Amino acid sequence: MGQDVAQRILKEVKDLPPFSAIANRALKLTNNPRSSAIDISRVISYDPAFTARVLRMANSAYYGFSRKVTTVSEAIVILGYETLKSVVLALTLQKFYDREVHGYGLEKGDLWKHSVGCALASRLIATQVKYVSVEEAFVAGLLHDIGKVILNQFVREEIDKIIELSGSQGLSFAEAEKQVLGFDHQDIGSKVAEKWNFNDKIVEAIRCHHRPDRARKDMDLTAIVHVADFICLSLGLGVGSDGMLYPLKKEALDRLKLDEPEIDNLIFAAYNITEEIEKILA
Ligand SMILES: [Fe+2]
Ligand SMILES: [Fe+2]
Repeated sequence: MGQDVAQRILKEVKDLPPFSAIANRALKLTNNPRSSAIDISRVISYDPAFTARVLRMANSAYYGFSRKVTTVSEAIVILGYETLKSVVLALTLQKFYDREVHGYGLEKGDLWKHSVGCALASRLIATQVKYVSVEEAFVAGLLHDIGKVILNQFVREEIDKIIELSGSQGLSFAEAEKQVLGFDHQDIGSKVAEKWNFNDKIVEAIRCHHRPDRARKDMDLTAIVHVADFICLSLGLGVGSDGMLYPLKKEALDRLKLDEPEIDNLIFAAYNITEEIEKILA
């Protein structure tokens, strides 16, 4: 069953315009190495409400700029093009994530909060461990659970079986997904990200975020997303019903050379994420 269902989903995802026209343009631009700051600002300025949200996010304490960013061109100068791109991507995906995710015990908006939380936490960890690209960490964190949205949309019937199995046998959803469908939200999420032209490292981080030991291309990036996911779960950020069934893997901490007090510090530093997200959403 697994292959057939996965193939069908991938085909439908391909045919489905999941986003608005502006979102599609933004997604294409963010994945095009030849796009420029002017292109991106054009897309943003096209929609004043979107511009306001970009600026609100740019002014989030998580970006740590003392100066207030008031225009898109200023945002490009102050934030830098790469950061602006990831902010645009986050806001672009909001609609897609911002729905009730039946079966995972997530209410409307929960998965979006969890995803932005994980993106911000990934960025925080990436900065602390001096990872080579903090923005890549942000994007991988943002997309790690995208498979949940996809499964929710395409295999609604099977979701009930997954819940039942997870409840009766105490399995994590990923384990129950694998038993019922033959693949899990990591597998399908990584395939979709591949289709959307995200790079190999991001695709791998999505595929391995619950099993960081399986990463080969960029073990650091996968470990960052894994730890960020754990931090969000510890903070109760968009946890849903199976949140606590994903333990923190020691190998991810070893990989990043983080010890327990440092994790506690990171959790503390990430404590305000929820508040930040509410502000961005306001
Ligand atoms: Fe997950
Ligand atoms: Fe997650």
